[in-house]
Amino acid sequence: MLFTQGFLLASIAASGFARSLPSKVRPRQAPSTTTDAPDAQATICGDIVDDANEGFQIFWASDAYACLTSVPFNAAVATRFIQYWNQTIQFQSTLAYLKTPPQGYQQPAVDVILELNRIQQKVDANAYANQYDFEADFQLLTYALHDSHVYLTAGVLAAFSFAAPYEVVSVSVDGKQAPKIYITDDILDSAKEGWNPSAITSINGTEVNQFLTQYAALNSWGYVEPHAEWNALMSSPTLDIQGGLTTLSGAGTFYPGDNLTYTFENGTKLETFWLAIYNEVANYTGPLTTGGDFYNYFVLGLLPASFDPTTIVSPSYSGELTEGPTNWTNVSYGAFPDDPFIAQADLGVLGGGLVTGYTLDDISTGVLSLPSFDAIPQTIGDYSLAVNQFIGNASNSNLTRVIIDLQRNPGGATLLAYTTFKAFFPDLSPFAGSRRRSFPAANVLGSATTKYWDDLDENNDDDYILKQQLAADEWLITNRINAATGKNFTSWQEYQGPVNANSDAFSLTEQYDLANVIFDAAAFDEWYPTMYMPNKSAWAFEERLFNPDQIVLLTDGLCASACSLFVEMMTRAGVKTIAAGGQPKSGPMQTASGTRGAIVYSAFNLDDDMSFARSIDTTAEALIPEIRDPGMYTKAAGFNIRDQIRKDETTPLQFKYEAADCRIYYTIANIYNMTQLWYDVATAAFVDPNKCVDGSRGFSTTNNTSPNPPPKPQSEKPVLSLDTSALKQVRFDDDPEDGFRSAYGRPIGGNDITLCPSNGVCPDGKSQCRPITISCAGEGSKNVKACLPPCTNRKGSTSCPGTCNILQTQESKVGLNRQANFGQDLFSGLCYPKTGTKKLGCTRNPTA
Ligand SMILES: *[C@@H]1O[C@H](CO)[C@@H](O)[C@H](O)[C@H]1NC(C)=O
Ligand SMILES: *[C@@H]1O[C@H](CO)[C@@H](O)[C@H](O)[C@H]1NC(C)=O
Ligand SMILES: *[C@@H]1O[C@H](CO)[C@@H](O)[C@H](O)[C@H]1NC(C)=O
Ligand SMILES: *[C@@H]1O[C@H](CO)[C@@H](O)[C@H](O)[C@H]1NC(C)=O
Ligand SMILES: *[C@@H]1O[C@H](CO)[C@@H](O)[C@H](O)[C@H]1NC(C)=O
Ligand SMILES: *[C@@H]1O[C@H](CO)[C@@H](O)[C@H](O)[C@H]1NC(C)=O
Ligand SMILES: *[C@@H]1O[C@H](CO)[C@@H](O)[C@H](O)[C@H]1NC(C)=O
Ligand SMILES: *[C@@H]1O[C@H](CO)[C@@H](O)[C@H](O)[C@H]1NC(C)=O
Ligand SMILES: *[C@@H]1O[C@H](CO)[C@@H](O)[C@H](O)[C@H]1NC(C)=O
Ligand SMILES: *[C@@H]1O[C@H](CO)[C@@H](O)[C@H](O)[C@H]1NC(C)=O
Ligand SMILES: *[C@@H]1O[C@H](CO)[C@@H](O)[C@H](O)[C@H]1NC(C)=O
Ligand SMILES: *[C@@H]1O[C@H](CO)[C@@H](O)[C@H](O)[C@H]1NC(C)=O
Repeated sequence: MLFTQGFLLASIAASGFARSLPSKVRPRQAPSTTTDAPDAQATICGDIVDDANEGFQIFWASDAYACLTSVPFNAAVATRFIQYWNQTIQFQSTLAYLKTPPQGYQQPAVDVILELNRIQQKVDANAYANQYDFEADFQLLTYALHDSHVYLTAGVLAAFSFAAPYEVVSVSVDGKQAPKIYITDDILDSAKEGWNPSAITSINGTEVNQFLTQYAALNSWGYVEPHAEWNALMSSPTLDIQGGLTTLSGAGTFYPGDNLTYTFENGTKLETFWLAIYNEVANYTGPLTTGGDFYNYFVLGLLPASFDPTTIVSPSYSGELTEGPTNWTNVSYGAFPDDPFIAQADLGVLGGGLVTGYTLDDISTGVLSLPSFDAIPQTIGDYSLAVNQFIGNASNSNLTRVIIDLQRNPGGATLLAYTTFKAFFPDLSPFAGSRRRSFPAANVLGSATTKYWDDLDENNDDDYILKQQLAADEWLITNRINAATGKNFTSWQEYQGPVNANSDAFSLTEQYDLANVIFDAAAFDEWYPTMYMPNKSAWAFEERLFNPDQIVLLTDGLCASACSLFVEMMTRAGVKTIAAGGQPKSGPMQTASGTRGAIVYSAFNLDDDMSFARSIDTTAEALIPEIRDPGMYTKAAGFNIRDQIRKDETTPLQFKYEAADCRIYYTIANIYNMTQLWYDVATAAFVDPNKCVDGSRGFSTTNNTSPNPPPKPQSEKPVLSLDTSALKQVRFDDDPEDGFRSAYGRPIGGNDITLCPSNGVCPDGKSQCRPITISCAGEGSKNVKACLPPCTNRKGSTSCPGTCNILQTQESKVGLNRQANFGQDLFSGLCYPKTGTKKLGCTRNPTA
């Protein structure tokens, strides 16, 4: 099955961790202080595993972090993993564009290979205090690609994910005013109980929008702009029906701190704790007691020697099997209507059904809800059937407009993007071109595999079967179409080009031949897109039942992979789009900010491809490593092998600014009322464009126009680390204990310090150039001049009420101490309690 995305947080989703702590799971209690003879070996890691075996899944973040940072680091294992990933990531299609992105790309540039070398240097310099520090640095680099086809689930980082205990939403009162942040339960409960919820003004003393932007930038995986990262933090009924977790409340990757405080507009403060979700199945690990045991299990994949896995008692399922729902109402907290006129068979959070269809009769509008394309193979037919039934019924009922709701759609089966498009536009052939990097290792894989396949003898039964089975192999090109000629490629050599672009080399553009049943059978689990074939069956409409101007796509920007392929096909046909939500500021938002790559590819498949090519070809033997050993135990890893490319273009779709035609804010009234949301969408799309967010229109390329993209957000800072001579800025940690320094300009709660320009005058006119020394373990030290603002307290006063401790770094103890005494206030800028020590300029903060 060709998947363009394939991610499920299934086990956690199924456990029902929702907007607040469910009763079945509870955090571990604070470490006990009883005087019972302590087990000499026991550590916090052991306590967690014991509790997990008793059925607890949620722990204090502080305990998880204490455990994670007790896991030792081994430079040889880390080095092997870096080598493995370095070989693998050469196949990532976007390396050159990440290094030098075109105008319109909204994320920071990153030189992936340079960064890998930086990490290797830190390994060599023994700069990682523990395994968590190494893995966090590494994972930040995979996140810096902003491509959800690039994934890595490995090592101790896979053991936990982090969560704020309350889910939040970002909603406007009237659709025009900038949204504010509310606790999701407050929005739901207040509507029922008739009171006014109060918005959150700050989290942990940081203004709420700033806090969430920084948290999102650090923890988000795979979005090409911050508006989408913002939405991924928030609750959504369309996420509820899929059992997913938000980035803020469940899918946090990095240790966020121990406790956190929400402050509301009405002055109330809510003090609470960060949580950690343990992701391993209870009892399957055997008895893990120490950080060293965690290393063996999570990093090396070894069970304890004393443990006999056949003794595992599997978690038992005691629930009764009940009839599945026929609507999404209950599971979406009342948001979805309970009367869909189309509902795919086996709906349900854990069921196979995804598609529902609705009518808004008074405005003659049908709504097709496609929350995902990630259908399991057995349900592909039901999915397509539901789509066709929707279109047929909507047309028979003479509905004049259709909203296709793609909120939260993470992609899935590529086939469904093709078939859904063709169900709407049977008369059109989508372009759907793609290409890959052209370099020696890839080309030897391609030429060896393609030649092998071409040479198989169709008259020999075994060869014939093998030929059919291999027909969708990624390294076979002679049954794919050359977009330039409309004919099959004749050889890999014809395909490999190279086509030079952005200082890298690429193949020609390929397309699938969907009329080729042998390819289809191999690619799509025996499902056939008959509507692409000369002899259409009853599955295909003869003609389109809706025109592009009758249809609008609704997204929340999170649309990824197969969803972005669908959006691309539909918008090239002239269908317009509305994006909902995003950061609380006016202006446009992109429709599909999840990956726009054409296909995800697993590192394990690449391992197999390489051994296969070595076994059939002597050139491959010379060019390709004999054994690929990741060193570290890897549950899942992969990359984007092919870019989506528009006809006659060279820039991958991933890097183009593709604005929605209109953007709307979610409102208090529509965030948990889909009917209201769809009315609002229909109004903005078809009736009154003034309902769109100010400044959000006129940026789209829907009708093949090419307006200028808006400028890149100012807040994005260049990558930096002490090893690079291009050091432009340094950052400091707000909290010396939290261990977080991002090499990519993403500290939690940190601030920026700008280095002095050569003329010695700070750009803001207020700060002054002062010499400071930055030193970090393993990174050496550096004397720089930085623009240091005067001490300010939170209220903006520049006279600190006492001593002001500027830039005290724990390692270097540089001077510049001005004395200040801070009293009770919370401070930003550079006023700190005199007891505080700040670490400065380290790419990570090795625990002292
Ligand atoms: C990664 O691979 C590139 C290209 O082969 C090489 O130049 C670089 O040194 C490698 N980096 C590491 C850390 O192995
Ligand atoms: C303030 O608002 C919060 C959030 O809506 C609510 O939980 C709390 O009860 C309110 N406090 C008061 C005193 O009204
Ligand atoms: C919130 O503040 C607490 C106490 O200062 C700190 O321990 C925690 O790390 C902070 N969390 C974040 C995310 O800043
Ligand atoms: C949060 O942590 C800080 C520092 O560890 C502590 O001073 C503060 O009291 C904690 N807040 C809560 C709500 O526990
Ligand atoms: C783990 O195994 C023990 C018995 O060996 C059993 O009592 C316990 O319920 C199991 N834990 C879970 C979460 O299934
Ligand atoms: C919606 O589904 C629920 C089960 O979740 C069912 O009880 C209810 O009858 C359904 N509503 C309608 C109108 O069919
Ligand atoms: C419906 O929702 C309620 C409250 O959220 C929950 O207790 C109940 O189990 C749900 N029913 C189903 C069938 O999901
Ligand atoms: C309308 O939907 C029903 C199922 O609800 C289906 O049986 C019927 O075939 C559909 N009609 C058309 C024209 O697709
Ligand atoms: C749809 O329009 C056709 C042609 O005007 C008409 O015959 C048919 O009755 C209408 N169907 C409905 C459900 O209104
Ligand atoms: C491409 O080759 C396949 C056989 O591999 C053949 O079935 C198909 O018709 C060819 N397509 C075109 C467009 O020539
Ligand atoms: C696209 O542009 C053409 C003219 O360039 C116009 O005739 C057509 O109506 C436009 N289509 C849409 C869907 O805006
Ligand atoms: C949802 O919105 C619709 C349309 O405004 C309204 O009729 C309905 O009462 C709302 N539902 C709830 C539960 O508020």
